[in-house]
Amino acid sequence: MSSHSDKKQVTLSTLKKMKERGEKFTCLTSYESTMTSKICEAGVDVVLVGDSLGMVIQGHDSTLPVTMDQLVYHLECVVNGNQGSHIMADMPFMSYATDDMGFENATRLMQAGANSVKIEGGEWISKMASMLADRGIPICAHMGLTPQAINRIGGNFVQGRDPNKQDLIIEEAMSLEKAGAAMLLLECVPDSLTKQIMNELSIPIIGIGAGSSTDGQVMVIHDLLGISCLEKPPKFVKNFMNDSNSIQEALNSYVSEVKAGIYPAEEHTFF
Ligand code: KIV
Repeated sequence: MSSHSDKKQVTLSTLKKMKERGEKFTCLTSYESTMTSKICEAGVDVVLVGDSLGMVIQGHDSTLPVTMDQLVYHLECVVNGNQGSHIMADMPFMSYATDDMGFENATRLMQAGANSVKIEGGEWISKMASMLADRGIPICAHMGLTPQAINRIGGNFVQGRDPNKQDLIIEEAMSLEKAGAAMLLLECVPDSLTKQIMNELSIPIIGIGAGSSTDGQVMVIHDLLGISCLEKPPKFVKNFMNDSNSIQEALNSYVSEVKAGIYPAEEHTFF
């Protein structure tokens, strides 16, 4: 736990217990210390140092330019402001292109203060998930829309609408759990697919644009604050500043709405 607070540390076992109790958990991106302390004050369970920093901090039009050095820098800033939240760090584009690179770069993130690492991919990352889990590094597998593959996918489209693709995603999610993935993050998938995956897996599942049935929800902090650089925010985004008088109030509302099952609502869900 950070030396900044006596707040109880959120661990993987905390998240598993919350899942067992049917209690929703919250996750938010952060890239710096002060905002992290506000996020922790609101009671956010997981802080994600996401490679979305390439877009919302650096102003790029994708996450691809983010380097390991940059991710580690922002992770260190977040660690300094943390008060007991679980810190998940993204593995940047190509930082896990080979098993050896994945091993070395995940180690760097853990040594900089991460509690888990997030890797985009399906079946092909199973071996790495297993290798890292065996060595004490919990991984969250990021499936559905995987922004690092934007050039292959061709755009920010909802994934898994086609029944064959749905089956493939479910199979891959199951094999990742079997390989040792500690968590799964689903991005931009139809609600029906999320529900099928929730039925098959027992690890905690976090969603963004994946409907309301996941164990946890994640948002990019800039979207929550209504300062996204996108002309038209995606359907799943809710601007929590609209009904709040301060950033802290908006963060508190996000936490209470996720916990109460108010956010995401139908209007934020793909069917
Ligand atoms: O990098 C990020 O912020 C993410 C979220 C969109 C889940 O991966």
